[in-house]
This record gives sequence, structure tokens and C-alpha cells, in this order.
Amino acid sequence: MTDRKFNWGIIGPGRIAHQFADGLKVIDEAALYAVASSRIEKANAFAAQHGGEKTYDSYEALVNDPQVDAIYIATPHRFHLDRALLCLKAGKPVLCEKPLTVNAAETRQLIDAARANNVFLMEALWTRHLPIYQQIRDWLDAKSIGDLRLLVSNFGWNVPKTGDDRWYSPELAGGTLLDMGVYPIAVSQWVMGQNPRAFSVQSVVSETDVDELTAGLLKYDNGVISQFHSSFVHDGVNDFYIYGSIGHIRIHAAYWAATQATLSANGQTTTVSRPFRGGGFEYQTEEAIRCIRAGLLESPVMSHADTLANMELMDQMRAQIGVKYPFEK
Ligand SMILES: NC(=O)c1ccc[n+]([C@@H]2O[C@H](COP(=O)([O-])OP(=O)(O)OC[C@H]3O[C@@H](n4cnc5c(N)ncnc54)[C@H](OP(=O)(O)O)[C@@H]3O)[C@@H](O)[C@H]2O)c1
Repeated sequence: MTDRKFNWGIIGPGRIAHQFADGLKVIDEAALYAVASSRIEKANAFAAQHGGEKTYDSYEALVNDPQVDAIYIATPHRFHLDRALLCLKAGKPVLCEKPLTVNAAETRQLIDAARANNVFLMEALWTRHLPIYQQIRDWLDAKSIGDLRLLVSNFGWNVPKTGDDRWYSPELAGGTLLDMGVYPIAVSQWVMGQNPRAFSVQSVVSETDVDELTAGLLKYDNGVISQFHSSFVHDGVNDFYIYGSIGHIRIHAAYWAATQATLSANGQTTTVSRPFRGGGFEYQTEEAIRCIRAGLLESPVMSHADTLANMELMDQMRAQIGVKYPFEK
């Protein structure tokens, strides 16, 4: 690569892609270069708003543009597998929205393709890269709350039931577990540094056959439990508590987008703020650029193994609550 900026392409310029494009604006070494949409007028409008140089009405054209250094995929998860395979086979590094795929079998296909083509692949679990999480890691490493005991979190908001959005659509792999539950599972995995050894789960399933309210318990080897719920049917408090033997840490709402955390231990309370430079997506994007430039196929912050373990867990949870998508049957 020359000394030009690191050129990003976007597949699927919908809602969340705007936050990605905003993040690029605060990264000096990177730029939005190209946008691909099935509707060219959508790509054109997005590029005009965010400063993209090129637009394409086909994803194939984007992945074959030699000036594209990496691609961010922001379609509903039903389409992540196909879009990511297209990129990886063309040798383009991929940062793909969460959940990486709909199930573990699809995730394995993507990891295999990344290895076979020697190309970087990362699930865009932006929470793990946020600056406040480094402060939380420092507290945990210093044993500021003693031995870990219990994690308690929730992720909920009233999602409209109308329209053809992904949330309530089984065809688009809707449901709270894949959409929201991926966060408490991935944050618990990050806190614990391991995967749960056992779980239990209960869901309320909508008339469209997706889970609209899910409550889960994860049990870890050292006796720690993580309790979470994800919901389309009520507005949650949306914070995340980590309880230890001598205190607790509160990751303030919304914890998946947090800039603040509070440590309470030994009769003292300290709140720390770590504001974003931009909208918050810049940190995961910088990590992807760092890894790609270093020739890595995966990030140590959100590794292939972590993503796969979470997908396997969510597969097992969905089997238990009876949510199987039509295209999986
Ligand atoms: N990290 C976060 O904080 C966060 C937040 C929200 C969502 N997400 C994730 O981001 C992904 C996209 O969510 P979103 O709400 O931004 O999506 P969206 O706006 O509904 O759609 C984004 C793009 O996906 C394509 N698409 C949408 N519906 C489609 C359909 N029925 N068939 C084929 N293509 C379709 C379209 O691409 P074209 O323009 O090419 O037609 C659309 O522009 C999801 O996987 C979600 O889990 C992440």
C-alpha cells in the first residue's frame, strides 16, 4: 500500500452504516472510498452525505475495485454469509456487523474462507473496543472488586412491530437473541475470559416465530453466573453490573455504547468517563486497520474463536427456545 489513505468500501448503506461512516471521519489515516447498494440512488445519496468517491450498484463491482482496502458489511445478518464470502474470495478484508452470521455453521464457513484466502475477518462487536472498557479491564486486573461473582445486564427497547424490518422477520433472522443478546454474551465472555460451561434460557416467542423477549443464565467454571435479558417489548435500563466479593462495577447505559463506568468498593465510589472521539465506531475500525496492516487474519480483541463460541451458544439457546429460521429448515 502507498502512503494514500486506507480506503473503505461499504456493502449495504442502511441505518447502521451511517455510524460507521461517521467513525471514519475522525480517523486521519482512513477514508470512505466506495459505497455499494442494490439501489444506486441509495449509494449515491450515502456517498454524497459522507464523502465517498465511488458508488456501485453491485457488490461484485465493489469487491473487484483494486483501490478498496477493506469492506464493512452492514446488511441484515441473514445476508452476512454471502456478502462476506464474496469479499473474502476476492481477497478483501472484512469487518462485518454483529452477529457475524446467523448460526455457527455459517461462521465456520467464513473462518475457513478467511484462512483459505489469507484475508482478515472480524465481527463488528464495537463495544469491546471502546475506551471505557480498557478502564474496566484495568479494574478487573487489579482485583478492585475482588473475586468475580455475578454479572447482571439487560438490553431492551420497544421495537415497532410494523413494517418489513429485520427485527420481527424470521426470513431476515429476526429475534432479540441474535440482535441484542449477542452483546451480553460477548461482554460476559470478555469479562470472564472464558466461555460458559452451562446455560439456561427462556423466551417469549412472537406470533411471527422469533424471540421477542429472552432471559438467559450463563454459568462459568469458577462459579460465576451471568444473568441477562434482551427485549423488543419494553425499554430496559440497559446497564451492566459486574459484582465481585468486595464491590461492583457498573457500566453505564447503554453499556454496549458506554462512555462511563463506576467502581464501588471498600466504601468508595469512583466514576470514570472516556468520551468517544467520534460516534464510537472509530475504535473497532482502527483495530481492523491495525490488524490488516500487520497481516493478521483476525483480531485478538474479537477473535474468530470468540465469535464462533458465541454463535455456538446462541445456536444451542435457539434450539432450546424453538426458534429455527425458515431457511435453516
Ligand atoms: N453495531 C451496532 O450498534 C448495530 C446497530 C444496529 C444494527 N446492527 C447490525 O447491522 C446490520 C444491519 O442493520 P440495519 O438496521 O442497518 O439494516 P437495514 O438498514 O435494514 O439494511 C441495511 C442494508 O441491507 C440491505 N438489506 C436490507 N433489507 C434487505 C432485504 N430484505 N434483502 C436484501 N438486502 C437487504 C440493503 O442493502 P442495499 O442498500 O444494498 O439494498 C440495506 O441498505 C444487522 O446485522 C444488525 O445486527 C449493528
